[in-house]
Amino acid sequence: MAEIETLKQALAVSPDNIPLLLMLGKAYMDEFQLGEAREVFDRMLVVDPMNADAKTAIAKLLDLGGRSSEAILRIEQVCAESPEFAPAWILRATFALNEGEAKLAREYYEKAVSIGVVYSDSELLKRIEQAGGSKGPSRTTIQSSGDQASVYMDQDPFDDEEDPFDGFESGGDDDLELEFASKPNSDFSKVGGMESVKEDIRMKILYPMENAELFKAYGKSAGGGVLLYGPPGCGKTMISRATAGEIDAKFISVGLHQILDMFIGKSEEKLHEIFEFARRNAPSVLFFDEVDALAADRKDMRTSAGRTLINQFLSEMDGTEAHNDGVLVLGATNAPWHLDSAFLRPGRFDRLIFVPPPDEPARAEIVRIMADGKPVDKLDPAALAKKLKDFSGADIKAVFDQAIEASLTEAMKAGKIVPVTQKQLAKGARQVKPSTRKWFESAKNYALYANQSGFYDDVLTYLGISK
Ligand SMILES: Nc1ncnc2c1ncn2[C@@H]1O[C@H](COP(=O)(O)OP(=O)(O)OP(=O)(O)O)[C@@H](O)[C@H]1O
Ligand SMILES: [Mg+2]
Repeated sequence: MAEIETLKQALAVSPDNIPLLLMLGKAYMDEFQLGEAREVFDRMLVVDPMNADAKTAIAKLLDLGGRSSEAILRIEQVCAESPEFAPAWILRATFALNEGEAKLAREYYEKAVSIGVVYSDSELLKRIEQAGGSKGPSRTTIQSSGDQASVYMDQDPFDDEEDPFDGFESGGDDDLELEFASKPNSDFSKVGGMESVKEDIRMKILYPMENAELFKAYGKSAGGGVLLYGPPGCGKTMISRATAGEIDAKFISVGLHQILDMFIGKSEEKLHEIFEFARRNAPSVLFFDEVDALAADRKDMRTSAGRTLINQFLSEMDGTEAHNDGVLVLGATNAPWHLDSAFLRPGRFDRLIFVPPPDEPARAEIVRIMADGKPVDKLDPAALAKKLKDFSGADIKAVFDQAIEASLTEAMKAGKIVPVTQKQLAKGARQVKPSTRKWFESAKNYALYANQSGFYDDVLTYLGISK
């Protein structure tokens, strides 16, 4: 979000700047704000009516919005107008694959590669090859570039005589595998500091999953639910992804917005399917980031989906229809108070992990990560970290943004690179207001006045308030 704000500010100064517009459009797409993205790309076309980037992006947006035939027409047009623009051929290949046209997809892909720009998309190629029937099962997942832009299809587009794997019994697992179960390339070593959170995760997630039999002997299940909660921008998503790298079990990451947005009227079915997939693959971890989406800002959701989807979620967690042995449901939220208390009953999210603002070593690590690859002079992360008490990861990014903007102004005047200095960063640290305090104000009220079954005890401990 900070990126979007920065880009908007920059565009206010030069509204016709094509590279900036492109960056903003893409940032909106990353945030899945499709309407806003579309406006930006339309604006690009006003400035530059032949812009192939904008036209390709619009085709992708149309496809995401379910208007696939229009999307195909558009992309054909881009390929005709700008035949040397490789990304358009890649997208066209993806579309062809979606339509079950593996051979055409291959052709378009080859075309993109032949253009000479170093352009390859091994994931797409793999899927084309699979769909072509020579390697692996002839099923495909309709997905563009591993991001949220995935569209799931129920019927198998290759379900005909030519399919050498006809009758292949996986029931769509390959689809789900590609869509949700890609292993993030991260582990605890990539998360700075936060030792107590890591230890909590070891005790509540890793050991139970690794010693399922032992736990069973004591009448405890390795599955169940664990909820990570804490102020925004403090590493919940990051540490969850790192957990995937620490664990041998299958890690299935589900964006709820993805389910809510993409599968109108089919959310419950889809959710059930994902849980079934996790059960078949046990031991497994099902990760729902921003799980409060199920309850918070209902205006975001199709109202009719709300309650039924929540009920579906709860009954899946209870495992009323099937056994959830070895399926661990991991949720993350920065607004736990929006969660229906039904979520917190035994057997559901009954173990909690509080993710506090990054401690000093974590802040130093975040500083190091943010400075990486940027022109920064004589950086002392440890000293800076001391000045960043109560700052979230996102706040630290804001500090860097400020300092970088200052150097950039200097650099433009001087016509050469002017490195960011420790002093500028320290100044940024004084200007940016740490956002976590505000969260603690709300959390404190809940902790003091709505602390059912000690839910917020860790918050109280963190604030030094005795129970
Ligand atoms: N311990 C850490 N080590 C390295 N980087 C961190 C750490 N904690 C946070 N960050 C950085 O801070 C940023 C925000 O973290 P993240 O997105 O995981 O927060 P979050 O708690 O999931 O926030 P939200 O509640 O808004 O979803 C990330 O870009 C991440 O790189
Ligand atoms: Mg997050």
